[in-house]
Amino acid sequence: MIKKIGVLTSGGDAPGMNAAIRAVVRTALSKGMEVYGIRRGYVGLINGDIFQMDARSVSDIIHRGGTMLYTARCPEFRTEEGLDRAKAKCEELGLEGLVVIGGDGSFRGAADLSARGILCVGIPGTIDNDIACTEYTIGYDTAMNTAMELADKLRDTSQSHDRCTVVEVMGRNAGYIAVNTGIACGAIEVITKEMPYDLDSLAKKMLEAKKNGKQNFVVVVAEGIGNSTEIANVLQEKTGIESRATILGHVQRGGSPTVRDRVAATEFAYYAVGLLEQGIGNRVVGMQNNEIVDFDIQEALAMKKPYEEKLHKIAEEIGF
Ligand code: ADP
Ligand code: F6P
Repeated sequence: MIKKIGVLTSGGDAPGMNAAIRAVVRTALSKGMEVYGIRRGYVGLINGDIFQMDARSVSDIIHRGGTMLYTARCPEFRTEEGLDRAKAKCEELGLEGLVVIGGDGSFRGAADLSARGILCVGIPGTIDNDIACTEYTIGYDTAMNTAMELADKLRDTSQSHDRCTVVEVMGRNAGYIAVNTGIACGAIEVITKEMPYDLDSLAKKMLEAKKNGKQNFVVVVAEGIGNSTEIANVLQEKTGIESRATILGHVQRGGSPTVRDRVAATEFAYYAVGLLEQGIGNRVVGMQNNEIVDFDIQEALAMKKPYEEKLHKIAEEIGF
């Protein structure tokens, strides 16, 4: 039986991470385990910025965005020396297991630490939903709802001015946020790296729709494309329709998590602590067919996630 575990958040923050921390702490306590919070991800693990948590440590956080444990990127953790220091710190404190809430990079670190005898279980936390072993990652729903609300606001002004609004959403290299937001806000076109696009045919489509009485045009662009202002300029040039680009940026990472994020975070965390309790490490928790499951970290990292091509095609077909 594992009796003492730690919890940390690592990489980019995501709304719902606090709900996950809360559930890790409360689950561990309910199972009679001691639980320690580690600040700023692997940085805090290496430097010993670690404190014991009780039930009240996680009061009043379930509805808050961000992460009460803070997060960081830690280049030192990628080195042998950094990993040895982290292991030594765990041993000094008697931490036998660790819950790592983050993305693929954080899980690579968790695998390295597991190989050194510290049991690590990863929980997928990123707004991008780009982790292959899971249908869902904490923060995705909140980020998309934020993007949709902001795109709706842009549509108001766009409609008033007979303009085109090019909205760039986050997603690192993945188009999941873009395609879902595009559908949700009635975009005429979604542009992602996963599907070919052609600005000439988009311009033609816009002009035909204009002839047909359409007044505003929302084009959602995934950040991986990297040139939304240029796309707006090209569309304006080709169509004569005034166009503006807006990069939504980090606002998508903040805000109170939605029900979906709070519930998913809680389920992942409950399951992760259950694995550690049984002495199982080097796993990452995921969601498949709405069920919580777990995978070997290396196997999870080798998986490929399909793009939502069907959804993308629907967006293309009915955006006119
Ligand atoms: P995410 O977890 O969101 O993918 P990053 O890729 O920035 O975010 O990774 C977060 C942290 O995980 C890094 O700062 C580093 O400490 C650790 N990490 C990332 N990649 C590796 C790796 N290959 N080996 C060990 N640790 C890693
Ligand atoms: O992974 C989450 C994410 O917000 C991506 O969508 C984006 O590409 C990246 O992080 C931004 O990272 P940073 O906060 O370091 O600018």
